[in-house]
Amino acid sequence: MASNLQPVRGTRDLLPADCRKFRLIEETARRLSALYGFEEIETPIFEPAALFKRGLGDTSDIVSKEMYVFQDRGGDELVLRPEGTAGVARAFISEGLSQLTPLKLFYRGPMFRYERPQKGRYRQFYQMGVELLGVEKPQADLECLALGYQILKALPFAGDMASSITLHLNTIGDLESRAAFREKLVAYLSTRKSELSQDSLVRLERNPLRILDSKDEGDKRVISEAPTLEASLNDTSKKFFDDVVAGLDVLGLPYKIDPLLVRGLDYYCHTVFEFTTTALGAQNAICSGGRYDNLISDLGGPKTAGVGWAAGVDRLALMMQETPEALPTVAIVPMGDEAEAPALKLCQELRGAGLRVDMAYGGNMGKRMKRADKVGASHAVILGSNELSRGVAQVKVLATGAQSEIVLSTLVSHLTKEMKG
Ligand code: HAM
Repeated sequence: MASNLQPVRGTRDLLPADCRKFRLIEETARRLSALYGFEEIETPIFEPAALFKRGLGDTSDIVSKEMYVFQDRGGDELVLRPEGTAGVARAFISEGLSQLTPLKLFYRGPMFRYERPQKGRYRQFYQMGVELLGVEKPQADLECLALGYQILKALPFAGDMASSITLHLNTIGDLESRAAFREKLVAYLSTRKSELSQDSLVRLERNPLRILDSKDEGDKRVISEAPTLEASLNDTSKKFFDDVVAGLDVLGLPYKIDPLLVRGLDYYCHTVFEFTTTALGAQNAICSGGRYDNLISDLGGPKTAGVGWAAGVDRLALMMQETPEALPTVAIVPMGDEAEAPALKLCQELRGAGLRVDMAYGGNMGKRMKRADKVGASHAVILGSNELSRGVAQVKVLATGAQSEIVLSTLVSHLTKEMKG
């Protein structure tokens, strides 16, 4: 029955006010990314399941329990993309983009994860992200971080939300460092198994590094005495991280080194980071990413370094109180039947000149003026038979009530000036 039709759990309708916020966020990111040389790419919303299994890792939360997997009518196993990096890496390989490195790509769009829905966490959510491919040097990490900062600074967050944002930074080192650490960590955790949570016991077998960012109090106690990742870093990994940190200092971008930040996707190496806010409760990560030098080769492509991030547009929108203004509007108010056709023509002319125009579909002058208020019009153009016979219109500024008579042939230029001023 129609009245029982609800959006699927974890999905929601973005109404016009939401869309205005989303568009402002995405356009800000797109415009600023372009300043850094990023160009837009759009990859498919569904991809072969194998892409994410291989790219994100079988043991990651996303692959093991959050993917929307389905078989299409041809029997292929497909997935609604849970994130954007794997798709961009796939496009890099299948479109033969390796000649174009350094390649800087920006993307935005819906992602899908079967997570428990709550404020700021949805099953269909929106990311915008950047990927910088083909640069092994820490400059690439810095460029991505600086861009993240610049976008977050440019967004019109409510109140003191902007000051609630912190950049958390860590290194998980290269493969060699991580293998060494993993061995030490597993040896240590195996001696304290009885104190670990059920989740962590499973992770101990499959993905022990993830235990480091467990929120469980018992786990946290055990972890506080664990060997540190830092102590296992080889010289290359140490130097890489030092260079990233030194670069942030040069740029004057604040950060907090968080030795327990490991991130949930298997493709990372070296730098990992998260911009978090204290304003959204549990879902506090608003932009996260890191370096992934092995992803493209793991997917069968040429060895190509990569670094990037993705920001949660839904979460950024929650931090913005004011809905950005819609375009200023002119309301056309014809008085009497004979003014209807000239009013319609005037709408066409003004819209043709790039102005946003509203005209009620009926009603007397009082009703139409009320509608002008409702649509937030800044000006009303009142057109009666008297005005028409003299080739003029009354233009009323709704905020002040000031009214002036304008010659029809100059109306477009008059309003254009008024509205754009
Ligand atoms: P991620 O940390 O899984 O990383 O997601 C990035 C951002 O997407 C998060 O910081 C959060 O703001 C938002 N997000 C994630 N899940 C949800 C959800 N269920 N509801 C609302 N927002 C959500 C990645 O996806 C990586 N691909 C980022 C990356 C790009 N790393 C390198 N390049």
